[in-house]
Amino acid sequence: MNHNNFNFLAIIALFFAVACSSGPQKTDDTGDATKPYTEKYRPQFHFSPDSAWMNDPNGMVYYDGEYHLFYQYYPDSTIWGPMHWGHAISTDLVHWQHMPIALYPDSLGFIFSGSAVVDWNNTTGFGSVGNPPLVAIFTYHDPKIVETGGVDVESQAIAYSLDKGRSWTKYEGNPVIPNDGNRDFRDPNVIWNEEIQQWNLVLSAYDHVQIYTSDDLKSWKYESDFGIDAGTHDGVWECPDLFPLQVEGTNETKWVLIVNINPGGPNGGSGTQYFLGDFNGYEFTADSKETKWVDWGRDNYAGVTWSDVPQEDGRRIFLGWMSNWAYANVVPTEEWRSAMTLPRTLSLVKKNDQYVLKSTPVKETELIADNSTTVKIDEVLKISGVRELDIQGLTLNQSRLSLELEIGETLPESFGILLENELGENVTLSYSASAEQFQFDRTQSGDMSFSDKFSGISVAPYKIGATVKLEIFVDAASAEVFVDGGDLVMTEIFFNSQPFSKLKVFAEGQPITLTSAKMANINSIW
Ligand code: FRU
Repeated sequence: MNHNNFNFLAIIALFFAVACSSGPQKTDDTGDATKPYTEKYRPQFHFSPDSAWMNDPNGMVYYDGEYHLFYQYYPDSTIWGPMHWGHAISTDLVHWQHMPIALYPDSLGFIFSGSAVVDWNNTTGFGSVGNPPLVAIFTYHDPKIVETGGVDVESQAIAYSLDKGRSWTKYEGNPVIPNDGNRDFRDPNVIWNEEIQQWNLVLSAYDHVQIYTSDDLKSWKYESDFGIDAGTHDGVWECPDLFPLQVEGTNETKWVLIVNINPGGPNGGSGTQYFLGDFNGYEFTADSKETKWVDWGRDNYAGVTWSDVPQEDGRRIFLGWMSNWAYANVVPTEEWRSAMTLPRTLSLVKKNDQYVLKSTPVKETELIADNSTTVKIDEVLKISGVRELDIQGLTLNQSRLSLELEIGETLPESFGILLENELGENVTLSYSASAEQFQFDRTQSGDMSFSDKFSGISVAPYKIGATVKLEIFVDAASAEVFVDGGDLVMTEIFFNSQPFSKLKVFAEGQPITLTSAKMANINSIW
């Protein structure tokens, strides 16, 4: 969000908070796992809150067999307001159980985004080595200071849990990092750094990130800045994440710095950029100052990764908020607002001498594929013009589509796939040879009346080879497109008024060959 929005929303929120001084009402709503969640546009295999407003994923940490997902939550409305941390738990990253709210706003402010870690060595002294505390590190955003026009609105604070994230105690010494004079000063993300045997914290401060060190998560030392002269600056930097990742097939390790930005995303509004480089525990040095994007679609924001995934698993697992501040508050859902992306495994590969951060849906997604519905097209199909595939009654708005295409000697002007309903509403993914880019077109996708910023075509530069692999997860109101095993990703939401029922493949100018097509329904996670 940008400054002005925060001022405006915070004032409105403060007004409501004062007007209803009995406090938030639905705050201990635990959700109801037996609910069918069949409302219009309700995602069937993506996490969404039981009811009310949700934005960023927060405090993602794995501990004792459980993946925790906290999130920015306002239980009293379906628009953004005084932030809490909502909570959900999963043992397999696909099925989620709604939990009671973990953190409530208090006299120091709203609870903005942040991270969580397992304090294995009990450096905080909050627990013991036998029962290590889970420590959440978050931003306080103080609406009283917003009202008086002060700049020291945001500071960093901690809370801990000794019962596997079920209940949380805020540290009496909060804030642990007071405001430093930046009006935007938030979204702390912490890792234990083996090399320096200290905690590292990275936070965003308007147009750059700041790096800190600590021995005990309570007392922090500022070390350095990164980014004033790097990356994109068409918006405010938010929600950073800094972690090492091994380059696939080598012993080389690079550090990845994820920095969300709003606005200024690759196709307008919110977006997630990343930098690769080296980090010595005190300073991050980027290989290149150019922005790269984690996802080229318009609906993957504030994404960060899980902490403390066991070493024997070794994955860096990412999850984003499947919306965009350009229209998030007005999308046409009634009970709740917005969903998360599928969790994705990040990997680093070297492609044409360039490092690429790839994202692929976590392997656990297989657990919810409904193999009994698998439709396979084994014969090789030459596509010239538009061809509708026989999907044998598949539920397209709850499916995974895996297609492999062979491109002839001469590239067609364009080729791609289209999902359509009986009303002619559709979304189209196409590749344009002249522009060398993928395009996701939602200009005829259904309800777009809620915002003039919503309709449009998102583009993603990409050089294709002789074959192209497309894997697309389509839910009630979203598509996540993974090209060539995650080299390129596009995540987009849409609101088709009837389910999609037709799947078409097309090639214009020159034919292409569909060498394999495999499609299946995805089971509901609820
Ligand atoms: C990102 C963001 C964060 C902030 C939170 C407030 O979407 O603006 O920077 O902590 O949302 O809800």
